[in-house]
Amino acid sequence: MTLAALYPDHVREQMRRADVALERAGFDYLVIPSGEEHYAFLDDQSYPFRANPHFLAWVPLTQHAGSFIVYTPGKKPRLVYFQPHDYWHEPPAAPSGFWVDAFDVRVIHDPAEAPGQLPIGARCAVLGEANAAVEGLVPNNPPAVINYLHYQRARKTRYEIEQMRRASRRAAKGHLAAAAAFHDGCSEHEIHLRYCSAVEQTESQLPYGNIVALNEHAAVLHYHHTPGPSPSHSRSFLIDAGARESGYASDITRTHARTDGIFSELIGRVDTMQQALVSEMRAGRDYRDLHVECHRRIASILHDTRIVRMAPEEQVERGLTQVFFPHGLGHFIGIQVHDVGGFQQDESGGSIPRPPGHPFLRLTRTLEPGHVLTVEPGLYFVPMLLEKLKASADASAVDWRLIDVLSPFGGIRIEDDVHVTAAEPENLTRDAFAALAALAE
Ligand code: GLY
Ligand code: MN
Ligand code: MN
Repeated sequence: MTLAALYPDHVREQMRRADVALERAGFDYLVIPSGEEHYAFLDDQSYPFRANPHFLAWVPLTQHAGSFIVYTPGKKPRLVYFQPHDYWHEPPAAPSGFWVDAFDVRVIHDPAEAPGQLPIGARCAVLGEANAAVEGLVPNNPPAVINYLHYQRARKTRYEIEQMRRASRRAAKGHLAAAAAFHDGCSEHEIHLRYCSAVEQTESQLPYGNIVALNEHAAVLHYHHTPGPSPSHSRSFLIDAGARESGYASDITRTHARTDGIFSELIGRVDTMQQALVSEMRAGRDYRDLHVECHRRIASILHDTRIVRMAPEEQVERGLTQVFFPHGLGHFIGIQVHDVGGFQQDESGGSIPRPPGHPFLRLTRTLEPGHVLTVEPGLYFVPMLLEKLKASADASAVDWRLIDVLSPFGGIRIEDDVHVTAAEPENLTRDAFAALAALAE
């Protein structure tokens, strides 16, 4: 279905959520500023603009500072659309697109016109940053409203799922270009540039900074390259890079080896394991259990490849797998790459704790149809963590010769974006790569 066909239901759902949130919290209006530019301290240079995610949940306008959504229960939502008269920058075009008909659009050309379009002095829930305040209307971010909306935002509408399919397809093109650049022997920075070119996005449009890591750099979980000399010989390549589509993110990681051998075999095992985990992303499953299940599977790989000579269950109990897999299995994704509500107990707030001993897990909820999350197991050779293990009582269980052989490859992460449904999970990432492969045939 087209975005135009899916969008009206999406807006109706935002209205329904707003109705409930306002009723619960005792407000008559919901006002959502798109946000204002942020400037560097004592400077006239602004940071790249990032729109208020609550605003993006209503309308796909990612570069429209100074605009507002105003929702009054029972009425068509109003969009106060700021189109400055500005010859220094390229101002937003006149409102057009599939989203226009959903709103009572009021175009303003000067910020001073905004208050005339806003319910100043009424009981408003205003969701936004402090710098979006206008005379008589200051963001108050009522927790009862925010908590309800954040909990609901985990349940993607069909329109949102379609945007995320597109975000995955865009990123998959970049991943193919990046893999080819690696095989051509390019530097990290060259690979990054080829990625940006293939996804047709600038760095500031991407949902997060690309992680483009050759060789040992793959062991740095959030490695960010700098332009300059790269290794003269690249053996391995980890790329964690996404793209955005109308404000919705994708988040994809792939790991490549230049030649067949022990490391490429390990990539194959992690990839198979990752797909098995994806198939378990079903409604009713507790994501915390799936994270712990991932540790068991990592332990089995370490055992089967003889990197660690200890029974898998014992490895998990003794915390050995934390050395090789020191991050969480994944997180919600949507408008924010690490989307909101991942720990939330219910619509009123609260927090579901992480399992003891797993401090980096970002999602603790029970899965529901409509959730979209990442599944991103990894297996790394992180010198700092390995040194600790070497000094511990468990050192004798480890084949250090094998660790020395594998460490120059850095590590492996495989990450897909997965839509939980009432039946089989939909793998947005693998489907995107498959669609590109079919096009290339
Ligand atoms: N790219 C950041 C993450 O995978 O969570
Ligand atoms: Mn991720
Ligand atoms: Mn990632």
